Amino acid sequence: MAIDVLLGLQWGDEGKGKIVDYLAGKYDIVARFQGGPNAGHTLKFDGKKFVLHIVPSGIFRKGIINLIGNGVVIDPVSFEKELIGLEAAEVDYSETLLVANKAHLILPTHRFLDAAAEKAKGKEKIGSTLKGIGPTYMDKTGRNGLRVGDISLPNFKEKYEALKNKHLGLLKLYPANDALDLEKEEQLWFASIEKLKTLKHVDGEYYINAALNAGKKVLAEGAQGSMLDIDFGTYPFVTSSNTITSGVCNGLGVSPHKIGEVIGITKAYCTRVGGGPFPTELFDETGEKLRKEGQEFGATTGRPRRCGWIDLPQLKYTIMLNGVTQLVMTKIDILNIFSEIKAATHYQYNGGSHTELPYDMNEIEVTPTYKSYPGWNHSLDDVKNFDEFPKAVKDYIAEMETALGVSITMISTGPEREKLVLREVV
Ligand code: GDP
Ligand code: IMO
Ligand code: MG
Repeated sequence: MAIDVLLGLQWGDEGKGKIVDYLAGKYDIVARFQGGPNAGHTLKFDGKKFVLHIVPSGIFRKGIINLIGNGVVIDPVSFEKELIGLEAAEVDYSETLLVANKAHLILPTHRFLDAAAEKAKGKEKIGSTLKGIGPTYMDKTGRNGLRVGDISLPNFKEKYEALKNKHLGLLKLYPANDALDLEKEEQLWFASIEKLKTLKHVDGEYYINAALNAGKKVLAEGAQGSMLDIDFGTYPFVTSSNTITSGVCNGLGVSPHKIGEVIGITKAYCTRVGGGPFPTELFDETGEKLRKEGQEFGATTGRPRRCGWIDLPQLKYTIMLNGVTQLVMTKIDILNIFSEIKAATHYQYNGGSHTELPYDMNEIEVTPTYKSYPGWNHSLDDVKNFDEFPKAVKDYIAEMETALGVSITMISTGPEREKLVLREVV
């Protein structure tokens, strides 16, 4: 059996949580393979709203296994808060939520380092969510990290102290921050480690391969977006993990041969939160209209998201990197109020017209060339089947498919689980 993948093709917040929550009903296992509490995946159903950070978005579907894979970084404190939220919603995760032994732990001092490093960067800051993501992945690749499996070792406390002391040494490189209360944060952290101990731990790589061999259907849920990938995103304005399809292999322990469908998700426009280049960003009334209508405020940090038109060179790039086999377009309803819709088809830079992203995107002026499409000025609330869309929607979808070379199999018309128009069954 193959493992299907769903991931974001832009700078995150494409609506992954909503679509995974819908698709989960068709799978046996949903697995997160990278990222950590920097992610915020919003789910809406039965009049309720949930924001998940490291818990996979299949958790509300009865009987489905949700695996937090080895590529994820876990802050036990924020994880416990998430679990308390699930308990309040009467979700029994005791048998369905699994944590990989090889997932790395975020320490309080990782968060302190994240904050100190960002502050030191001044105007050049990444716009990190300050959840400790970068420093934790640095310790992973630096071979210093603590992992979930370590929490039951007799020398766990010693390992913790050694890493913490390394961090305290590093923090001396930055101005002192008296607002950080390590003793209090440590108490909370160790209390949450006790909660983490009560969960089911697995060797994720054996678990997932055995499941695939037994014919189980597995969906890998991406976090962030491909443009935030550590290798191929708008470096250094990226996150610290591989957010693209290849990250599934490292983040779960599956062979590339096992990858099945790659479902790429894009908004009908584009957003970004944090610093870094964003060629189609709009600083005018249209951008403000997208933000207001789309409620574009971060699910994790509440920050206003930067907004702009959909960017076809950018999407072609991430479709290429991921090997996307089908597309999902979300938030098409946000375009209902626009009489003219635009998409960037080319970039102007270095005196020429291009369809490729330049290496030095952070340094040079990149000016998009746009194509316009007529709007539909119509609510899409009642649309259940593709045929019921206004002609202008169908034309817009067809134009996007032609430009991107991949079929759009799902179109999302609202935040709720049922606001989804399917064109082919996945
Ligand atoms: P994720 O990080 O990719 O899971 O996305 P977020 O949850 O951070 O942001 C997506 C936001 O858009 C959330 O508030 C969703 O409830 C909302 N959303 C998802 N799909 C749609 C849609 O088709 N229409 C509208 N209006 N909202 C949507
Ligand atoms: P989901 O899964 C949008 C951004 C941050 C910052 C950069 C680095 O909800 O789509 P980090 O905390 O990783 O050091 O931040 O990446 N970022 C996201 N933007 N959606 C996310 O996740 C993000 N996770 C990180 O804003 O610019
Ligand atoms: Mg999000």
